[in-house]
Amino acid sequence: MTKIKNIVVLTGAGISAESGIKTFRDTGGLWEDYPVEQVATPQGYAADPDLVHRFYNARRKDLKTVKPNPAHEALARLEKGLIEKGGYMTLITQNVDDLHERGGSENIIHMHGELTSQWCTACQHKFYSQGEFTPKSICPKCDVAGKIRPDIVWFGEMPYRMDTIELAVMNCELFVSIGTSGAVYPAAGYVQMARSLGKQTLEINLERSEGSHHFHETRQGKAGKLVSVWVDEILNG
Ligand code: OAD
Repeated sequence: MTKIKNIVVLTGAGISAESGIKTFRDTGGLWEDYPVEQVATPQGYAADPDLVHRFYNARRKDLKTVKPNPAHEALARLEKGLIEKGGYMTLITQNVDDLHERGGSENIIHMHGELTSQWCTACQHKFYSQGEFTPKSICPKCDVAGKIRPDIVWFGEMPYRMDTIELAVMNCELFVSIGTSGAVYPAAGYVQMARSLGKQTLEINLERSEGSHHFHETRQGKAGKLVSVWVDEILNG
């Protein structure tokens, strides 16, 4: 029997790096090539929706060329293993890719939205698509043109499912952060919430993050290897 049964895992771009998806703030990261205020803010979208659609069309196209890596698969294994032992796992991801789903995880919260989701701001319909969009795209539900935006949480907007996330952190025994720089709130603050509630905390990241000092334990290295090792420890512990 595993000793720890209820775990919250928060992931960031670093977990998908070994699959070939660019992170944001590392050298050569996405925010070096694309000014964040142009492609990841409501103001940037209002100023140049064509540029913003092209940016997310390209990210969505990239999804077709990548696949989950051992870290995504290990987290899916952990979820199943905990359930078999009467436990529970909540996977909170800041990532907008679909590699956790394709890696086999089921209970996933995409707090920053999803590349494969589109949002019609005329009728509020959200729909799945792997295709391309332009400022003239038509909503499949209300037929209005020009109101479809990427279902991505931009800077200045409220992340999704905050209540569910906070409840999960409150109820967990262990909070684990994987592959995130800890630069963006509220995600970066969940470790402090967990600590203040007396939870155990662990960070797995290539390098020390901005919030490393908040964690009980930090492990440095590539997620593809370290996450599998940690999952084995939990499931065999
Ligand atoms: P960042 O690019 O800020 O940080 C990625 C982290 O992953 C860095 O600390 C790297 O050291 C680490 N890393 C890189 N390769 C790794 C590997 N193979 N194994 C483990 N760690 C690795 O990405 P996030 O923290 O996810 O938001 O960024 C948070 C948010 O900022 C994103 O969701 C996005 C961005 O702006 C929005 O777009 C709303």
